[in-house]
Amino acid sequence: MILKTLTLSGFRNIESARVEFDEGVNILCGNNAQGKTNIMEAIRFFSECRSFRGASDKEMILSGEKFASVFAEFEKNGRTQTAEVRFFSEKRRELYLNDCKVQPKEFMGNFNSVLFYPEQLTLIKNGPDNRRRFMDVSVCQIRPVYYTLLSQFSRVLQQRNALLKSGDTLTLDIWDERFAKLSFLVTKTRENYLSKLEKHAAPIANEISGGAENMTLRYTPSFEAEDENDLYTELVNNRERDRELGYTSVGAHKDDFETYLNGKNVKIYGSQGQQRSCVMSFKLAEAEILSDTVGEYPLVLLDDVFSELDTGRRNYITGKIVGKQVIITSCDPIPMLTDSNLIFVENGSVHSVPV
Ligand SMILES: Nc1ncnc2c1ncn2[C@@H]1O[C@H](COP(=O)(O)OP(=O)(O)OP(=O)(O)O)[C@@H](O)[C@H]1O
Ligand SMILES: [Mg+2]
Repeated sequence: MILKTLTLSGFRNIESARVEFDEGVNILCGNNAQGKTNIMEAIRFFSECRSFRGASDKEMILSGEKFASVFAEFEKNGRTQTAEVRFFSEKRRELYLNDCKVQPKEFMGNFNSVLFYPEQLTLIKNGPDNRRRFMDVSVCQIRPVYYTLLSQFSRVLQQRNALLKSGDTLTLDIWDERFAKLSFLVTKTRENYLSKLEKHAAPIANEISGGAENMTLRYTPSFEAEDENDLYTELVNNRERDRELGYTSVGAHKDDFETYLNGKNVKIYGSQGQQRSCVMSFKLAEAEILSDTVGEYPLVLLDDVFSELDTGRRNYITGKIVGKQVIITSCDPIPMLTDSNLIFVENGSVHSVPV
């Protein structure tokens, strides 16, 4: 997949800009706080249908304005397609695909990208919600129906928690059944993805370590259920405790995964460098899985990652993405990437030459 152009209007600190991208390496250059990550956030929105920084629509609209839009032209499946998001301060955002208004579930899965950003390099030592989110976003891109499943699951979870809190638990049985069904499906889908991820990431992690390390991944559900009935029984058994806690203590929203190098849990025993290498292998594996499923390599987005990695790892990533479309943000020139399209970002303005 190739991103051709991006047009931003009233997005973050960018009043108005049109950016053209090359098929190879593109570097968004500029000092700190100029708008480089803002552009990445806008691009990545097309893949996640949300801000990767977790921002609200209002936060993404230029201060003092009521509306923002981001429009992309991209090539996929041999034809030029368009996607657009319109953000409003006072109503729900609107999504468009090839000029037709669509729902998030239809929007997902069309614009494929893989994003590396500094906060995610620490995925292994971060809290479990980050790892769940990583799996969920990755799965949504290859299986857009998973987006619907996740939304249903989170609605039922909210409903069950609200009932537990209110003490009005007469209808809990119906919700437990629904919850068990959806939660079990979410867990199974993620487990499935994780085994695929392991298959692709393990050889990469091994290569990064010069053949020294064998990586394995383990999905760790909050409750080991054989089937949805098993989970349902556990929910019923836990009702009293959940009522006291005011929330649902087992289910896919509490699942996690663990990473092992040569049989040792990397979160506990791994060095910072080993943890980063594992995350790098996840991301490159994510790109391979997308590529296998969709039939086209995704757009690679590297936000501030080069400054965080040592030369060996930088070279490794560079080698892996040769010939692919990449967008990189950087405050300084990147010596190993001389043949690239330089895009200068200054105070929310975008130029093809430095000003
Ligand atoms: N809604 C908004 N309206 C106006 N300006 C905003 C808005 N949100 C963020 N900004 C501004 O955007 C700038 C930050 O942009 P961004 O995060 O893209 O910086 P960057 O170029 O990636 O910098 P760094 O190199 O430090 O990562 C800040 O000056 C911030 O005040
Ligand atoms: Mg930035």
